[in-house]
Amino acid sequence: MIRFYAENGLFHLQTCEFSYVMQVLDNQQLVHRYFGKKVNRFSSSNKMTYLDRAFAPSPISGNRTFSLDALPLEYSSNGLGDFRSASIEVRNDFGVGLDLKYRAHRISKGKPALEGLPSSFATDDEVETLEIDLYDALTDITLTLFYSVFEEANFLARSAKITTGEHATKIEGCLSFTLDMPRKDFVVHSLMGRYGYEKEWTRTPLTSGRYEIGSVRGASGHSQTPFIALADEAITEDSGEIYTAHLVYSGNFKAFAETSPLHHTRWGIGLNDQAFSWQLEAHQSFQTPEALLSYTDQGLTAMTQTSHAFIKRHLVRSSFVDKARPILINNWEATYFDFTEEKILELAQTASQTGIELFVLDDGWFGRRDDDESSLGDWFVNRAKLPHGLEGLARSVNGLGMEFGLWFEPEMISIDSELYRAHPDWAIQITGRDPIYSREQLVLDLSQDQVCDYIIDSVTRILESANITYVKWDMNRNITSMPETVANGERYEFHHRYMLGLYRILETLTMRFPHILFESCSGGGGRNDLGMIYYMPQAWASDNTDAIGRLSIQEGTSLIYPVNSLGAHVSAVPNHQVGRVTPLETRGNVAMMGGAFGYELDLTSLEQEEIDEITEQVATYKSIRATVQNGQCYRLARTSNTQSTIYVNEDQSQAVFTFVKILAQPEAPLIQVRLKGLDPEAQYHCPRLKETFYGDELMNIGLTMPHVQKDYFSVQYIFNKL
Ligand code: GLA
Repeated sequence: MIRFYAENGLFHLQTCEFSYVMQVLDNQQLVHRYFGKKVNRFSSSNKMTYLDRAFAPSPISGNRTFSLDALPLEYSSNGLGDFRSASIEVRNDFGVGLDLKYRAHRISKGKPALEGLPSSFATDDEVETLEIDLYDALTDITLTLFYSVFEEANFLARSAKITTGEHATKIEGCLSFTLDMPRKDFVVHSLMGRYGYEKEWTRTPLTSGRYEIGSVRGASGHSQTPFIALADEAITEDSGEIYTAHLVYSGNFKAFAETSPLHHTRWGIGLNDQAFSWQLEAHQSFQTPEALLSYTDQGLTAMTQTSHAFIKRHLVRSSFVDKARPILINNWEATYFDFTEEKILELAQTASQTGIELFVLDDGWFGRRDDDESSLGDWFVNRAKLPHGLEGLARSVNGLGMEFGLWFEPEMISIDSELYRAHPDWAIQITGRDPIYSREQLVLDLSQDQVCDYIIDSVTRILESANITYVKWDMNRNITSMPETVANGERYEFHHRYMLGLYRILETLTMRFPHILFESCSGGGGRNDLGMIYYMPQAWASDNTDAIGRLSIQEGTSLIYPVNSLGAHVSAVPNHQVGRVTPLETRGNVAMMGGAFGYELDLTSLEQEEIDEITEQVATYKSIRATVQNGQCYRLARTSNTQSTIYVNEDQSQAVFTFVKILAQPEAPLIQVRLKGLDPEAQYHCPRLKETFYGDELMNIGLTMPHVQKDYFSVQYIFNKL
């Protein structure tokens, strides 16, 4: 709900849980008044406090109490008296900064899409949008702020658009939002990490100064996620306030929170201003990516569940959003580049006997690709390896009762490729400099339309050539050596133009092939963000397939992203990344906690006993798939040595509980775990325990975990309501 009160210039935006209030002051400055637990009214009794602060410049002569440096500004500019981090920075013939004054606003049902960028969507009944125009008279620049209120889903989408009038300007930074909060006692939650160790849930107390994360890799990266949250110090799973912000973007971004000397916090998220600027000529516009804000006072579980529900309903565009995701076998860790059609069919044959539903052919099927040093860009099948082509292979796999999927890395070009020999100028590089190598490949220049068209055409040709119903879209290096055009002073538009090119490609291909389930990947989770999830409903969470390593990766990923977006596979032991030997049961139990479950090992080399166990795991997963993929997720008791999680389906008729204990201990204490999300009055039968419990018993008394003296122990209990 969006209300405007003309008598005091107040905008009051409400979702079911929070209020967001802004006010136009007498001098037309737009200030932020409140973001937090929903209030029915924000009355005029709540007045701004103005104080004469030393060294706080004022735009009003004779009024020493009015300073932009002390006001909670809704969207701030550089250079004109606010010394904190600005929402927008511009430079033009007039100098720096914008004096942004309210000019007009519009409220409408529904939500406009953002041109060329992924963004949230809803029906006209589910969302209302407020647009506020702020105007700087000297430079003739209009800044439009967009606020879309998803009342039921408890989210607010924000973005900004800069439009020039008679004069050109350079944008040197523009965030999707900033917000000034009247307190600083927050703990910042973010998802950090590195290759093979993505999305580690990190909590950092915000003391004095500034906390910032971001990426300048040309992708969101393994190390940082376009997400930031400010929480109460004492937040728990079930109580406490938390403010969250996602950015719907896959390229360079930054998120920050900084305290002011007056004990306020300014925080925000948006495009990274490092290596960024954008030239607008007269009468042109620039649209920022979208930020998604939410708030709850019900703790971390509520934050997670609200985020999952919103992303599934209002951001994932694929028709697969809540459809059962197929159990797959991927040949990467089974064969790497070294395969033949015969080997692939042998693997597929064994997989089909276990009940696996989809075969994914990974890297190495095209050009002359026998290692990672050649052929990216040459998207034609290697007949030496696959004599019957993709069409023949897909037909054989289909004949085994399985679907067929294919790996691509379309944004890349190998120096040793026919494509590079024909079009060296399509690779991103600086003429006269040696290339900067990463996996011996370069990145294609998606700021060029013809390059994007080549990718669209070549991927289309392959996808139309065989019965392919799944695509793993990989991206295995970051961008360096951008050739920037220098005009009107220096400009750094390359990274954002790359993203606009990529989004055009993804838009075209995902709309053209709606029957294909797309999974994104970047050496695992190197670009696992909401920009990609908009087009591709699942992501390969990490190249680290070790069950123990996966615990923190899956916890962090599912903290905000839907469980069914999380690709998780059982792999061989000793594990290829860390050498650890874990039981097949634990590998299965941990991977089953991911919503896009599968296998990635050479099934043909296993003992019959192991194949039987896998056949059982596959059958079990089919019986719990709907609960894991589309149920509610609760993190239960956990320590550095244990993790427990439960998924409960919508009507509370089934729950899937998983407990993992990493290392055995001498004289280990008994562990009692209380479950959550069950119907307290109902009786639940656990086939594995051969016992029946009441929901309230399981939730209030809890379950005692088996006392097993083994490393890497895990147990999965399924509870079915009687
Ligand atoms: C990346 C992916 C892997 C695999 C390889 C193939 O590293 O994350 O899963 O597809 O590329 O080269």
